[in-house]
Amino acid sequence: MKIDFTLNGTPVSLESSPVKRLLDVLRDDFDMKGTKEGCGEGECGACSIFIDGRLANSCLIPAAQAEGAEIVTIDGVRDTEAGILITEAYAEAHAVQCGFCTPGMVMASIALLKVNPDPDEQAVREGISGNICRCTGYDMIIDAVQLAAKRAKERGLAW
Ligand code: FES
Ligand code: FES
Repeated sequence: MKIDFTLNGTPVSLESSPVKRLLDVLRDDFDMKGTKEGCGEGECGACSIFIDGRLANSCLIPAAQAEGAEIVTIDGVRDTEAGILITEAYAEAHAVQCGFCTPGMVMASIALLKVNPDPDEQAVREGISGNICRCTGYDMIIDAVQLAAKRAKERGLAW
C-alpha cells in the first residue's frame, strides 16, 4: 500500500507492506540508522521515535499506522538546539559508553523534559524506565538528563 507521512519535517511517501515494522521502514527505506533495533519486542527502547509527538517503540508499529502521522527520529533531533544540548550533556556526564542505547535514551529524555523540564531523580528514572542500558548502571544517564535540564533552564530553551 502507499503510505504518506512526515519524516523529520519532510513529507515522504513509500510503497510498503502495511505490516512491515516502522523500525524497518525507517532504517531500510529511509536510511535512518540512528534508530536502533535491540530486542524487537518493545522492551528495550532502542528504537524509540516520536509519532505525533508521543514517544513510541517503532519496532511495535506497523507501517500502515504511520499514514498521515508526523514521525520524528533521533536523526531529526540530534542537530536541533535541544538535541545538541542533550547529547553534549550525555557526553559530559559520561552517560555514553557503548552508545547503543543512547539514541533511544535521548528520545525518552526529551519526551520527559517536554512534560517535566526540571525532573528529580525519581522522575528521570520513571521517564527512562522503558529504555534499557547495559553499560552505565543508569546513574550517569540520570545525571545527564538533570544536567540537560539545568542547561536548558539557564539558556531559556524550551523542549
Ligand atoms: Fe524496539 Fe527494543 S527494539 S523496544
Ligand atoms: Fe551501552 Fe547504554 S551505553 S547500552
